[in-house]
Amino acid sequence: MGFPRAPAQESLSESQKRAAAVAAAALVSDGDRVGLGTGSTVAYLLPALASRGLSLRCAATSPATEHAARALGLQVEDLDALGRLDIAIDGADQIDPHGWLVKGGGGAHTREKIVAAAAVRFVVIVSAEKVVGALRPPVPLEVLRFGAHTTLALLGEAMLRDAPPSPEGNLIADYLGPVDDPRTLAARLSSAPGVLDHGLFAPELISDILIAGASGVEHRTLNKKDHRTREATRDE
Ligand code: 5RP
Repeated sequence: MGFPRAPAQESLSESQKRAAAVAAAALVSDGDRVGLGTGSTVAYLLPALASRGLSLRCAATSPATEHAARALGLQVEDLDALGRLDIAIDGADQIDPHGWLVKGGGGAHTREKIVAAAAVRFVVIVSAEKVVGALRPPVPLEVLRFGAHTTLALLGEAMLRDAPPSPEGNLIADYLGPVDDPRTLAARLSSAPGVLDHGLFAPELISDILIAGASGVEHRTLNKKDHRTREATRDE
């Protein structure tokens, strides 16, 4: 099976997403435990990965990804059955010059962060339009249904999103205030009662960023803090 062919009318943004996804699929090795993100960029990753014919065990960050991956013949298991992952690959809504991400455009950021944290290598795949000089709102939130309006009122500048609940039955909302200092805002959102998680991903979570632009795919490497070797974690 070869890579799916790009449709003739594919937009520049879509062809860049595809290019980043195909480059990321090449980073996966036979026998890997792989975390699969969510979104339109990951939608290009799944067939690229399946077409490699590797023996993989995957954990999905959303029902949509799980269904799409299974339909392509990828083996999807519960994250807890896999434990540590060798690699996780996911898209992003924004990425700043320091490697901070905003994620959660699809409301899957809580699961995505759990999967990213479980991976020795977390690879972010984006088209060039996702690269920003400074992060801007909205920052997605997953909030507990109980007292959701009160939770958001206490945060200020936040509103519920007109979107389906998360697979866990929680509500998706957006923080709309300034994102000038992502680390301080991340700490504030993390400590807000009723907020299960937010879409700010710190650079320490990330090991690789693949940015597809007009002149090809740029591969930036960051030092993920917990960078134990794949061999050391595979037997856990
Ligand atoms: C979903 C996400 C996605 O990774 C993010 O929204 C990017 O999506 P896309 O690849 O469709 O642009 O965080 O919760």
